[in-house]
Amino acid sequence: MGKNNKEKVILFCDGKKCCKYNSEIKECFKDLVNEAGLSDSVIVQKMKCQGFCKSAPIICIHKNECVGKVSTEDAKKLFAQHIA
Ligand code: FES
Repeated sequence: MGKNNKEKVILFCDGKKCCKYNSEIKECFKDLVNEAGLSDSVIVQKMKCQGFCKSAPIICIHKNECVGKVSTEDAKKLFAQHIA
């Protein structure tokens, strides 16, 4: 535990609505993690509907930084800001 950058989590909403829009960004995040060689320390995980379906697709980073209407461009920015 603690802030030693050992474990970072990228959560993508896998609820009904987000599911329709998230396959591209999901793959994008997985690719970014692999390309950065961070697959040991960064987890890409699904979460259930967050109640923000109007803003699908929803992504949360570290369980607190949540964003909606995420495009692949946004995914790259988020990754650069919070993970890489
Ligand atoms: S399905 Fe993603 S917020 Fe509801």
